[in-house]
Amino acid sequence: EGPQKSTAPTLEVLRDEVAACVRCQELATTRTQTVFGVGSRDARLCFMGEAPGADEDRQGEPFVGRAGQLLNKIIQACRMQREEVYILNVLKCRPPGNRNPNPAEAANCSGFLNRQLELIEPEYICCLGAVAAQNLLQTQTPIGRLRGRVHEYRGIKVVCTYHPAYLLRNPSAKKDAWEDMKMLMGLMGVQL
Ligand code: URA
Repeated sequence: EGPQKSTAPTLEVLRDEVAACVRCQELATTRTQTVFGVGSRDARLCFMGEAPGADEDRQGEPFVGRAGQLLNKIIQACRMQREEVYILNVLKCRPPGNRNPNPAEAANCSGFLNRQLELIEPEYICCLGAVAAQNLLQTQTPIGRLRGRVHEYRGIKVVCTYHPAYLLRNPSAKKDAWEDMKMLMGLMGVQL
């Protein structure tokens, strides 16, 4: 239990460490498989979600379900491709019934998350939803108050926005999410 620093020299080695992890006893037995990050290892931008859902648990890739389809559209609206960013989650295992990750699980997985970020070295992280934002920034501040400004994590600029699954349930929040993406693209120097 508790954070365990990974010193995996490459993403491939880290992926194998993740796949062998049984630190969260419950998740290790209920998961179909672990879900590592996808995308470019040279990505300037990482999108960070919460944890795999049912589709991701089945397919072994983050954001491949309905929320993932919307994330793909958001990425394209930002004049980028899914393949050129990096997409990862706070947790690598699906919590049963898609419950929120508990603090012990987030702590157990934090070494993997940090090593992924060290190996990718993104300039920007976009936190998708409260769980990602609150875990990365170690705060209890609600997502509505974290969005709209630039945060920092280990020298990486961090922007927080609503989770695409939330946007599917609350389409009226899409205009706020778009403001967040425009702010991020402005920081990155991407012309929209
Ligand atoms: N929601 C997340 O937070 N992450 C995924 O990978 C899929 C859905």
